Amino acid sequence: MLLDDALRAVDLVAATQGPIVDVGSGGGTPGVPLAVALPDRPVTLLEAERRKCRFLETWAAELPNVTVIWGRAEEQAPEQFGVAVAKALAQPPTAAEWCLPLVRAGGLVVLWVGESADRERVAAVAARIGGALEPAPAGLLAIRKTGPTPPGFPRRTGVAKKRPLA
Ligand SMILES: C[S@@+](CC[C@H](N)C(=O)[O-])C[C@H]1O[C@@H](n2cnc3c(N)ncnc32)[C@H](O)[C@@H]1O
Repeated sequence: MLLDDALRAVDLVAATQGPIVDVGSGGGTPGVPLAVALPDRPVTLLEAERRKCRFLETWAAELPNVTVIWGRAEEQAPEQFGVAVAKALAQPPTAAEWCLPLVRAGGLVVLWVGESADRERVAAVAARIGGALEPAPAGLLAIRKTGPTPPGFPRRTGVAKKRPLA
């Protein structure tokens, strides 16, 4: 069930080139199932909590295409990845603001969202930081990075959550 949920995005992710980052990977979903399904793609599991990273390292020991980084999304060097994925990271407007700077122009952000997710707010956030919503299967939001990350982003740690852009 957890696997099926993670793999709903596999076609979307496979269609955009470049390394993949799972932002707020927690116990390893959706990054680990995607790494197994796409063994030729490097997958970084980015996680803010040290304790969770220690667990994620056990996956990295098993899967040669997996790397673990202990850190926060908004503190990483921008535009390193082709695709950023995130499930249950934060409210979708905040998750979009954290993830979009991590991908290069032409890249893709895929967010796992609930039925009540406010697409308009996410679209407004994306428009501010060089992104635009694209069609995606139910329960997912796909945001294409249409241009470079504008100056001033990512904002300081904590600001995207405290003062969402939309
Ligand atoms: C609710 S968990 C979801 C974990 C996993 N993606 C899942 O669906 O089971 C959210 C995770 O995001 C991490 N996190 C929260 N804010 C973060 C940030 N700014 N950068 C990286 N990780 C973050 C938390 O430490 C937590 O492990």
